[in-house]
Amino acid sequence: MHLLTLKDWSPAQIEEVIEQSIEIKRSPNKFKTALKEKSLAMIFQKTSTRTRVSFEVAMTQLGGHALYLDWRTTNFTLADVKDETRYLSRNVDCIMARLIRNSDLNAMAEASRVPVINGCDEKYHPCQAIADLMTVKEKIGKLKDVKLVYIGVHNNVCNSLIVGCTKTGVEITTVTPLKNEHSLDKELIEAAEKTGSYKTTLDVKNAVKDANVVYTDTWVDMEFFLDPKFKEEKEKRTRLMMPYQINKELLKHSGAMVMHDMPMHRSYEISSEIIESERSIIYEQSENRLYTAKGILLKLLQT
Ligand code: CP
Repeated sequence: MHLLTLKDWSPAQIEEVIEQSIEIKRSPNKFKTALKEKSLAMIFQKTSTRTRVSFEVAMTQLGGHALYLDWRTTNFTLADVKDETRYLSRNVDCIMARLIRNSDLNAMAEASRVPVINGCDEKYHPCQAIADLMTVKEKIGKLKDVKLVYIGVHNNVCNSLIVGCTKTGVEITTVTPLKNEHSLDKELIEAAEKTGSYKTTLDVKNAVKDANVVYTDTWVDMEFFLDPKFKEEKEKRTRLMMPYQINKELLKHSGAMVMHDMPMHRSYEISSEIIESERSIIYEQSENRLYTAKGILLKLLQT
């Protein structure tokens, strides 16, 4: 079993990992040796803070070991992804990969003897969605019928949030004036529409009115944020997206809590005032990446 998109996980499987993650957070000592002598290879083509830290600490706290591989310093750069993965999966018990292309991730999963976890690619970020749902469950006490509004660019995080929400009964509305071409997944949207729990609109003021949770993410993918070649596009996006910034004015008639998967760009998709306000559950959300990393690892390695 892999964790590549969340699309092939059942609601029961997702809820099981969320419940297990809450239990792990409550009683970490019970799981101290759960992955004794197990190794996780973590390979990164892109930068990361949370995904790297959460999985590495998770393995240590579960009694196992994680090794960090920077893609650029490995022979993945000059050989076939499948060949290198065939080797890697003979030496470790699980692989977590943050790759740029979804096709490379799929090739890796096809070639691997051991479970592969998608640590975020151009289309999906399933580990983030599981941590987000755990946070909603913790804060509101339930998932079913919770109203979550995602405001920003339709990207990998948005895709996985749609899958996770619609599978667990969270009503998700997206407000996404821009869509990342490389993140588009028609099949995912069609499946979400069939559940009746997914809507999309550009009426941001109306969308946030009765929301329980408002969620945003960067307007520019991490690999482009500091890229001088992307400067013009970044400026264009900023102009177009500014009316959708999460700030005090937007939320003045809303009691919603605020989430962000981080890294944040203060004064772009979200104001500092909101980040520092009582509404923000952003740091708890990011902390929960650790417990859900453990929940995911246990699910994949103990079944
Ligand atoms: N949210 C998230 O995946 O954080 P990193 O990019 O820092 O891993």
